[in-house]
Amino acid sequence: MNKRLVSGIQPTGALHLGNYLGAIKQWVELQYDYDAFYFIADYHALTGRPKPADLKRHRIELLAMLVALGIDPKKCALFFQSDVPEHTELGWILNNSATIGQLNRMTQYKEKSDQYGQYVGLFTYPILQTADIALYDAATVPVGEDQVQHLELAREIIRSFNSHVGDTVLVEPKPLLTKSARVMALNNPSKKMSKSVAGSVIGLLDDPVTVETALKRAVTDSDPNSTDKSPGVANLFLLLENFSDSEMVRHFEGQFQKGTLRYSELKEQLIEDISAFLAPIQKTYRSLLEDEITLQRIAEDGAKKARPIAGETISRAKKALGL
Ligand code: TYM
Repeated sequence: MNKRLVSGIQPTGALHLGNYLGAIKQWVELQYDYDAFYFIADYHALTGRPKPADLKRHRIELLAMLVALGIDPKKCALFFQSDVPEHTELGWILNNSATIGQLNRMTQYKEKSDQYGQYVGLFTYPILQTADIALYDAATVPVGEDQVQHLELAREIIRSFNSHVGDTVLVEPKPLLTKSARVMALNNPSKKMSKSVAGSVIGLLDDPVTVETALKRAVTDSDPNSTDKSPGVANLFLLLENFSDSEMVRHFEGQFQKGTLRYSELKEQLIEDISAFLAPIQKTYRSLLEDEITLQRIAEDGAKKARPIAGETISRAKKALGL
């Protein structure tokens, strides 16, 4: 049997190129070689206290977008986290293998609690994330770099659980990162591309004019005489490597090395290639959204594949605990 792999994404609104390059692109590639479990982390999204109608819409839109990007529900299990109650069940169990001190070290809690308030769900979020991973015995978790701290904590929590029960009941996961694991904010390349940084993203649903505006505003060189790429320029080259053909990459690399690169030309190329990449995805996305019944069925089928595996892990964990 193939090796297992798991990853999740929150339904918090339109995806951006950071989500795609840091995570989803690899999800698509890996689904053929792994027994893959991909879920829409709707229980996690509750930590942002979304309006119920927004959450409902974002869940189904994200499902359509994942399929439009190439996640094949026949090749993997694609499901809503809240359709598999074992996630929260194992989350409760693992609360007893994590300490306040460990959770206090999580930088995302510090950032997000300023925005959403100091809710307990936001604080214990990494424990639920540990459960998400442990449920599927997944050794590998394809994520962007901002999730590495959570995965390291997941390893500690699982180790603590296993040591408490005196057996290797749960599997310790490792993050799987690509070269694009950290896509930076276009307008502030010292921060990661994120919806919470205004002007930082290119959304997967952006039209060519919006893509153009975002790229034209992208920060390039702070020191024009520098021979190293500034973070903003390196970020544009990262996009070029992902969306343009290799000849173009060589062309602009050559110009950069010679010191003759015109950023306006590089940006024009990116505007053209990124818009061309997005157009067919947006078309597929819109047509998928017209048939919500099929989307619901995809999610139900995904949950049906996930539940037996999750159920086995819970039984094993409960037995080991004396329950
Ligand atoms: P989320 O929903 O914030 O992001 C989804 C994925 O996108 C990646 N990502 C990025 N990668 C590169 N550059 C960026 N600028 C960028 N922004 C986002 C994230 O690293 C992530 O892989 N806690 C998770 C969801 C989750 C999960 C899990 C992931 C819940 N349970 C279990 C893996 C395993 C989150 O909030 O991701």
